[in-house]
Amino acid sequence: GDVVAFSNICTHMGCPLGTIYSPEHKLLGPCLCHFTTFDLTNRGIVVIGQATEDLPQIQLELEDSTGDIYATGVMGLVYGHRSNLDALGAVE
Ligand code: FES
Repeated sequence: GDVVAFSNICTHMGCPLGTIYSPEHKLLGPCLCHFTTFDLTNRGIVVIGQATEDLPQIQLELEDSTGDIYATGVMGLVYGHRSNLDALGAVE
């Protein structure tokens, strides 16, 4: 319940957010390109900056027998990834 994962590609124009993380406030950012900052405790919403889309959250599953955690999907569109459209059936 307390493990989350997000894309680290800014939804504004695709700059890498890297490890610009504030553990005190649990915020990712500010993005070095245009200063968008995302709240990782609240579904990756934009708290300030140029982006209009929240940060895509990675869907996780826990393997009970081993305790391993697996990424099984993405909730949202990752900036610049053609496969976003493939999943929607929009690209042939
Ligand atoms: Fe991150 Fe513009 S690319 S705020």
